[in-house]
Amino acid sequence: TVADLKGLKQGQLRLAVITTAKYFIPRLLGPFCQLYPGIEISLQVTNHERILERMLNNMDDLYILSQVPENIDVNYEPFLDNPLVVFAPVNHPLAKQKNIPIKRLTNEPFIMREPGSGTRRAVQKLFDQYGVKVKVKLELGSNEAIKQAIAGGLGISVLSRHTLMPDSSEFAILDVEHFPIKRTWFIGYPSGKQLSIVARTYYEYLLESAKKFVEENGDYGNSPVDKLE
Ligand code: PGA
Repeated sequence: TVADLKGLKQGQLRLAVITTAKYFIPRLLGPFCQLYPGIEISLQVTNHERILERMLNNMDDLYILSQVPENIDVNYEPFLDNPLVVFAPVNHPLAKQKNIPIKRLTNEPFIMREPGSGTRRAVQKLFDQYGVKVKVKLELGSNEAIKQAIAGGLGISVLSRHTLMPDSSEFAILDVEHFPIKRTWFIGYPSGKQLSIVARTYYEYLLESAKKFVEENGDYGNSPVDKLE
């Protein structure tokens, strides 16, 4: 029977995911574990640079990240948009403005992710491109801590839109030109690595679940801000 076949799927699954995916991935693990009760999972959540280190050292079965490594040969597949947007406290003076020129962010108090973060890298690239110099008030190694700092009035920041779920009332997403920064989550593994049955099962489950998520929620993503509300 099908139940017997599922019972055959036993063993360990080691996942390593970038910080922005920590909202989406754990939510999906519940149903996966119910389908395959014999699979034991360990999940590492860390930034882009550390994910690359883990990949190089072959520490996990599968990796989720939003920028494909340049120097490691990987097999990968995109599965969901991961747009980066400008977060501000809900009462921020720019919260109600439309089409804010990106230059307007110059000198705005800003909260920045730590070096090694893919979010930070994408933000800096965009700001450099348009000559925007924000005033970095604080550097923090956690999206959650950044949200608390924004809510506390320390400044604005750029974060994955997925970090907003589910508590949206304290924050505004600013309608700044050139945002959202379009990014995509990938699932992948070093080429040449032989995936276990368990890892392959999860890989397919994730692609399938992401497809359902898009059907239910729209692409949730790389579209202009006003279409997201
Ligand atoms: P980060 O991951 O934690 O490295 O910023 C997010 C990303 O790369 O999208």
